[in-house]
Amino acid sequence: MRLVIHDLDPKGWEQIAKNYEDCEIISDNGKIRPCVGCFGCWNKDPGKCVMNDGYENMGYLIHHADEVIVISRYTYGGVSSFVKNVFDRSLSYVLPHFDIFDGESHHKKRYEEEKPYTFIFYGHDLSEKEKESARSYVKAVSRNMHTLIKEVIFKETEEEKRPSVTKAELPHYKVILLNASMRFKDGNSAKLAGQLSSQLKKENQIIDLAAYLNKMEELVHILEEASDLVLCTPLYVDGLPSQLIRLMETMQKKYKGESKRVYLLSNMGLYEDRQLTNLFEATKKWCDVMNFDYSGGLGIGAGELVGGFMNAQRFGKWPLKKIAKGMDQLSQAIHNDLEMKDIFCGPEFPRFLYLAIANSGWKRMAKHNGITEKDLFRQL
Ligand SMILES: Cc1cc2nc3c(=O)[nH]c(=O)nc-3n(C[C@H](O)[C@H](O)[C@H](O)COP(=O)(O)O)c2cc1C
Repeated sequence: MRLVIHDLDPKGWEQIAKNYEDCEIISDNGKIRPCVGCFGCWNKDPGKCVMNDGYENMGYLIHHADEVIVISRYTYGGVSSFVKNVFDRSLSYVLPHFDIFDGESHHKKRYEEEKPYTFIFYGHDLSEKEKESARSYVKAVSRNMHTLIKEVIFKETEEEKRPSVTKAELPHYKVILLNASMRFKDGNSAKLAGQLSSQLKKENQIIDLAAYLNKMEELVHILEEASDLVLCTPLYVDGLPSQLIRLMETMQKKYKGESKRVYLLSNMGLYEDRQLTNLFEATKKWCDVMNFDYSGGLGIGAGELVGGFMNAQRFGKWPLKKIAKGMDQLSQAIHNDLEMKDIFCGPEFPRFLYLAIANSGWKRMAKHNGITEKDLFRQL
């Protein structure tokens, strides 16, 4: 059985459906919910997402498919918000435990296999550079999820709507820090946003994207008022989380404001901060489409550890000295309306110890949730 994950509307799908008659189809029924980052698919009901909206079995479906075909609109160097949402909800396909693969930390395989994936990106007049970004994004996902890329195909379609955004003439007057994590105030993005907010000497406001999932257009109007937007976001499956891509797509269609500066404050679970590259590239591509000024960012590795140390009031002290320095540079850039170079850093903490602590933590969480360590490795 082949598994097709696509974001086409009924009319678009009708034109190609006959090629996929023998396949299991995952399409957008309007009910999919974004991953809330609870890790329940790892430590409560291993192998299955805990949100029952019809998309909870993605890990199982991928495992049981002979191959996977992904059909997506090319979106900021990667996949569309719906397809990304399905990827984010497929986390249970791998195990929570970390290991080193080709010199980088990644999750271990739940299933001893390398699932073949074909990617079909559609878009208008995609340049060779854009195609290269999509290929590099797909490669990163494949490395992270232990899959095999069979083919990456590009199809030409009609032109997409681009907003007509004019350059702002107003002096800078309001900074919005958008917390894109579904964990609301408990997340690491929220802690980092709170820290940045406290260091900014300009009027600023933190807004939770999660509070606007059913009223994205309202959020777009709020963001029209901001002169500076700081995207405070976790890394999900090697890219932006689906809910943030959905906001970006909505802004592309509905935004009526002026140009603004966009900064990034991003964190990730794995150790090597360089794995944030695709997320930074996607944000830059979105800024290009929107005619916004991408003005630099701070990318932070080992985010769960950083969040833990922030709870223990260690910001500015070991092991968060480098991160605090990066935060100073980011707040200075925002304060002075300046562009800065992207900074990637992590805590001053050895990788082997981070991996060991993280791996032993899963056993504790399993016990806490009434399951055994062996259950974590369950295959469905
Ligand atoms: C669905 C999902 C996918 C993730 N994918 C990655 C990934 O590809 N690489 C990585 O380093 N961390 C990944 N993480 C870990 C998060 O980036 C990390 O836990 C982060 O600290 C969460 O930030 P938050 O608390 O602000 O949500 C993923 C987490 C979730 C829930």
